[in-house]
Amino acid sequence: MALKQIDYGTAEYKEMLKLRNEILRKPLGITFSPEELEKDKTDILIAAFDDDEILGCCILSHLDNNTLRLRQMAVQKNLQGKGIGDSIMTFAENLARDKGYKILMMHARDTVLGFYEKFGYKITGNQFFELNNTPHHIMEKALR
Ligand SMILES: CC(C)(COP(=O)(O)OP(=O)(O)OC[C@H]1O[C@@H](n2cnc3c(N)ncnc32)[C@H](O)[C@@H]1OP(=O)(O)O)[C@@H](O)C(=O)NCCC(=O)NCCS
Repeated sequence: MALKQIDYGTAEYKEMLKLRNEILRKPLGITFSPEELEKDKTDILIAAFDDDEILGCCILSHLDNNTLRLRQMAVQKNLQGKGIGDSIMTFAENLARDKGYKILMMHARDTVLGFYEKFGYKITGNQFFELNNTPHHIMEKALR
């Protein structure tokens, strides 16, 4: 498995978009709007590949000089529970640290709070609903 930063608009990016749609959007009955995908152009795009096959991905968005938001964390359905998400998180955190960021935060779906807790993320506020009424909490952690 190779973990890497990928470029917007490439063949790898198109694979990433398919995965994000399949894992993060279709199950909620929604798709990406063009405005939403515009954001990808300036974000840090991360993916795990096995040759040409995409295994998982996430995105880091700049919020301010200290803080990055992790979003679009997804692993292929048939490959979940094998440590790929763990490797992507570690790669993303190291990249964030290397770039000088101090805090990583996310809008975590309630179904995966336990995944982020494993990496030391803590809930910072009340439950809220987004993406077709899906329950979420904000979680964050100081990067050391
Ligand atoms: C959440 C997700 C990215 C995790 O990736 P994964 O490859 O399945 O996770 P890993 O196998 O690396 O698991 C790492 C650890 O987290 C735990 N974990 C994984 N998913 C979990 C969940 N939903 N709840 C609680 N713990 C979880 C694993 O048991 C493992 O624990 P261990 O180290 O004690 O064995 C993946 O399951 C996924 O794509 N889910 C659907 C999309 C989604 O909801 N994304 C998050 C949007 S906020």
